[in-house]
Amino acid sequence: MKILITAGPTREWLDPVRFISNPATGRLGYLLAAEGRKRGHDIILVSGPTRLEPPAGVVFVPVESARQMEEKVLQVFPEVDCLFMTAAVSDWRPRFRRNKIKHKKGIKLTLFPNPDILSVCGKNKRPDQVLIGFALETRNLIEEGKRKMREKRLDYILVNDPNFFGKEKGRHASLFISRKGKVIDLSNYSKEDISRFLFDHCLTICNNPSSLS
Ligand code: C5P
Repeated sequence: MKILITAGPTREWLDPVRFISNPATGRLGYLLAAEGRKRGHDIILVSGPTRLEPPAGVVFVPVESARQMEEKVLQVFPEVDCLFMTAAVSDWRPRFRRNKIKHKKGIKLTLFPNPDILSVCGKNKRPDQVLIGFALETRNLIEEGKRKMREKRLDYILVNDPNFFGKEKGRHASLFISRKGKVIDLSNYSKEDISRFLFDHCLTICNNPSSLS
């Protein structure tokens, strides 16, 4: 199968020396890309800036801003069977100033909304394509996950609570939700386990959309 994976944060530049971003590491997306290659799939990895090495054998497409990511994703989306949208896309971008902003005085920034890449894919998706979204939520994980899945027309969503620490320190609360409403608790899974789980669960419906569980 041909699988598109997005990863990492996006950078939204204010001026030639400053940007707005977020602390996403890109690790889950890169692990998914490696797992997909191991299973013999064709992988396209569209990634914002990270410190990670792209896994061998993947088609690697580096991008910086949300709008660049949108352009690359929409270019290849019609050709793929499945999209794992793990990227932490910046919700807003400032207006870019060509000259460095002087720091002596405070400034007011107006932020403009970025395109919702996954929603655009959801609107254009064929029934045989599988869309998996990822969300960070600090409250009402199931409700919020289901709402996003509906609004973005996803098949599956993985919702993480970054503030929750399970029995083992460093483990996040993770819930996997399917379009049919099945919820599976993956809170004790490592990111490696999660990437294997997602491949086991999400790809079976590509050839048979009615088999969604
Ligand atoms: O930010 P939000 O919780 O809405 O993110 C849920 C999903 O939507 C994620 O998979 C994320 O990659 C995607 N998203 C996107 N474009 C945005 C914001 C989020 O594709 N502008």
